[in-house]
Amino acid sequence: MAESIHKPVQDGEAYELADGKGKARARLPLLHATLGADAVDVRHLLDDANLLTYDPGFSSTASCSSAITFVDGDNGVLLYRGYSIDELVEKSSFLEVAFLLLFGELPSQAELDQFAHDITHHTMLHEQLASFYRGFRRDAHPMAVMLGVVGALSAFYPDSIDVFDPRQRLISIERLVAKLPTIAAMAYKYTIGQPFVYPRNDLDYCSNLLHMMFSVPAEPYVPNPLYAKAVNALLIVQADHEQNASTSTVRTVGSSRANPFACVAAGISSLWGPIHGGANEAVLTMLQQLGSKDQIPDAIRRAKDKDDPFRLMGFGHRVYKSYDPRAKVLRVIYDQLLEATGVKNDPLFELAKELEHIALEDEYFVSRKLYPNVDFYSGLIMKALGIPINMFTAVFALARTVGWLSHWKELIEDPEQRIARPRQLYVGPAKRDYVPPAHRGSNGALPKLPAGPAMPAERSIVGA
Ligand code: CMC
Repeated sequence: MAESIHKPVQDGEAYELADGKGKARARLPLLHATLGADAVDVRHLLDDANLLTYDPGFSSTASCSSAITFVDGDNGVLLYRGYSIDELVEKSSFLEVAFLLLFGELPSQAELDQFAHDITHHTMLHEQLASFYRGFRRDAHPMAVMLGVVGALSAFYPDSIDVFDPRQRLISIERLVAKLPTIAAMAYKYTIGQPFVYPRNDLDYCSNLLHMMFSVPAEPYVPNPLYAKAVNALLIVQADHEQNASTSTVRTVGSSRANPFACVAAGISSLWGPIHGGANEAVLTMLQQLGSKDQIPDAIRRAKDKDDPFRLMGFGHRVYKSYDPRAKVLRVIYDQLLEATGVKNDPLFELAKELEHIALEDEYFVSRKLYPNVDFYSGLIMKALGIPINMFTAVFALARTVGWLSHWKELIEDPEQRIARPRQLYVGPAKRDYVPPAHRGSNGALPKLPAGPAMPAERSIVGA
């Protein structure tokens, strides 16, 4: 007879798992959330009832408790430490938001000045790192370069990798927040063959990013305040998003007590994927491939075809079942940017708006609650700022570094956290005996693929 979970009732503070005869097998205490769904504590389920929970993709699993970010996917709400992102974008700076996410409260003026000073004075990289870049091919993707360089920081700063020393934690956090824009800008400069540009301490965080990406030694560069404001909005909305794939990756890596540089490099790897942070690049590539509005119906048809791997990039979200509040904020910023720069009827924007309009009326997208997400508009803003497409995810990564570090810090400081070690539902063969190759028939284990090009020969070192 089936097991049943029912709420018992004496205290209303736990569920009880009972067998078919109503005999209690496990008590599942209820944990209360400040906002959003409460959680059932299943930590002792295996010991008490010899049962696992099964939740691939973690649709219904809270992997930790966190006080950083709250997402209400049904109502399109995103709060950082209780503050709405709309208000933060309108009134605050990225560094103020970074302080809020990392330390839990908005800073006083004196605290903000000190934090900005500390970040500003850690933006330079160890000069030896410039040689490190030169080991990459010029056509390397900036994300490939970034994850290598960020991972390598642990070799440059062995003095700040004791994760249990609060002072070393703070120094590492400040180093990473300060250096990520420099690292991203250098990855860009390297791919286009221009000299690396050193940071400037007289500029704010966002203007300095523009300076390091777009200035050249041959002439003076004055960052456009309007562009800096757009970057500020972009970085704020991308700074954190609770337990997304890359943040969960950072937490998993951090749970083994790996150093923060290694954790952030792992976050960058996870973010790079095209259905996570890589989607901003994929959106622009998709729009450019569409080219004109008459191609939209075919794209919609392909996105709905289950036999076609094509998806409408920038649409859909695991949590949001309404318009992504980040996309809403960025859409307004994008409009303002175009208006202020005098760009009328930008063809890509027209195409994006039409695609959005058609998708939002299509039964397939409506019934699945697939709305534009943050990546739909962040890519358009970056394009308008002159940021090349292959840098989009790198800019996302430098913003999200603040979120990753906030979660890493929370994890290390949380006495309840243990090494991440999920269980599995084993569905492989039962124990069997080894048979030598000569006595084995063909088992068809090697996949038979359709004919295609052979493995490319490696280029000879001499001729490369
Ligand atoms: N185009 C077409 N169909 C879609 C799309 C899409 N973009 N997204 C979801 N679906 C369909 C999906 O095929 C499934 O249909 P059915 O129920 O018939 O099988 C249904 O909607 C639910 O999708 P899912 O894949 O089970 O949902 P998920 O929560 O596992 O995935 C997602 C969420 C964001 C990975 C997915 O919506 C997607 O691949 N979107 C496109 C990539 C993208 O824009 N990613 C950026 C996400 S936001 C920023 C970030 O995470 O960094």
